[in-house]
Amino acid sequence: MSTLKVGVIGAGSISQYHLTPYKNNPNVTLLAVCDMNLDRAQKTAEEYGAPHAYSDYNELLANEEIDAVSICTWNDTHAEISIAALKAGKHVLVEKPLCRTVEEALKIQQAVKESGKILQVGFVRRYDPNAQMLRAFADNGEFGEIYYAKASYIRRLGNPGGWFADSRRSGGGPLIDIGVHVIDLCWYMMGRPKVKSVSGNTYRKLGNRSNIKNLSSYKAADYSAESNDVEDLANALIRFENGATLLVDVSFTLHAKENEGVVKLYGDKGGFEIDPEVVIVTEKNDTIINIKPQTDSKGFQFEKAFQSEIDHFVECVQTGKQPISPVEDGVEIMKILRGIYESASTGKEVYL
Ligand SMILES: NC(=O)c1ccc[n+]([C@@H]2O[C@H](COP(=O)([O-])OP(=O)(O)OC[C@H]3O[C@@H](n4cnc5c(N)ncnc54)[C@H](O)[C@@H]3O)[C@@H](O)[C@H]2O)c1
Repeated sequence: MSTLKVGVIGAGSISQYHLTPYKNNPNVTLLAVCDMNLDRAQKTAEEYGAPHAYSDYNELLANEEIDAVSICTWNDTHAEISIAALKAGKHVLVEKPLCRTVEEALKIQQAVKESGKILQVGFVRRYDPNAQMLRAFADNGEFGEIYYAKASYIRRLGNPGGWFADSRRSGGGPLIDIGVHVIDLCWYMMGRPKVKSVSGNTYRKLGNRSNIKNLSSYKAADYSAESNDVEDLANALIRFENGATLLVDVSFTLHAKENEGVVKLYGDKGGFEIDPEVVIVTEKNDTIINIKPQTDSKGFQFEKAFQSEIDHFVECVQTGKQPISPVEDGVEIMKILRGIYESASTGKEVYL
């Protein structure tokens, strides 16, 4: 089998977690890097040994040698670039969130259908080895019916600035940027139940707190703290048609003692925690038992998860298998996120 020829569009902060796994995959040849900042594209292409660098993604898509692309650009370009790539006959791995709105998501879904190409959404948390292990436990009926989940992704200081803080380009703040990870992870672990309604709140109380010294955090490649019109904090209750609920809170800034990652799910036969550490809770012989699976890491493994996300994408393209994070799931998650924003702005529960 010949190698898959890949181009990466967007060479900012997250792109290294696509480029390195592509380089590590023996079935891939990295052919091109594109960034509207040509200097950044050229430097990145050189660093990763890609022979082509472009500043316009249309030029990359016109390269007939390229079979597949990763899209690692600002959220406002995900729909436009995904659709153009699919129309150009490329397979697509698009970073989370799929896009900014439900309308954009549906257009991408339509383009996937028309092109017959693979589109994988970069819900990287699904690809963590511990997440896959627990998914297999859930598939085996280990937890019974999962009826409650709780997720927190609290950054006490972590507004990445630049486009992330500009709602026109990002589509929103921590809810769409990091909430998307834990909402998706819980929904996936719950077996992707149909959503009934959402009720949410957003707050803009603290701003980006760029005055804070001595603490570093994730930043956009073109960091700027000058403007910020996204929420600091969001919380929500998501109700599913099967009666299950998911409670979530996420922040870019909050007067919290420390950053906090919590992903906990509860079923009628057992429960489990993914963040901060993997634990399974069950009952045996009239006794409650906490089980600690012995795996390489107790928590989320960022690099391993990206490697398996990329390996999965390559395998899906080469075999025609559908990805475990298909466009349909990107659309459903976008409906939840937009529903929460709508509920926060109207003060009402939103039925989906
Ligand atoms: N999976 C994760 O854990 C994770 C983590 C961080 C970011 N992300 C996602 O990755 C994407 C990029 O985030 P980032 O942190 O790398 O941002 P970034 O600002 O650091 O990098 C984005 C890059 O895209 C380039 N770009 C923007 N529009 C372009 C266009 N039309 N054509 C060519 N280049 C363009 C910018 O010049 C910049 O270099 C976002 O969608 C973000 O949500 C995912």
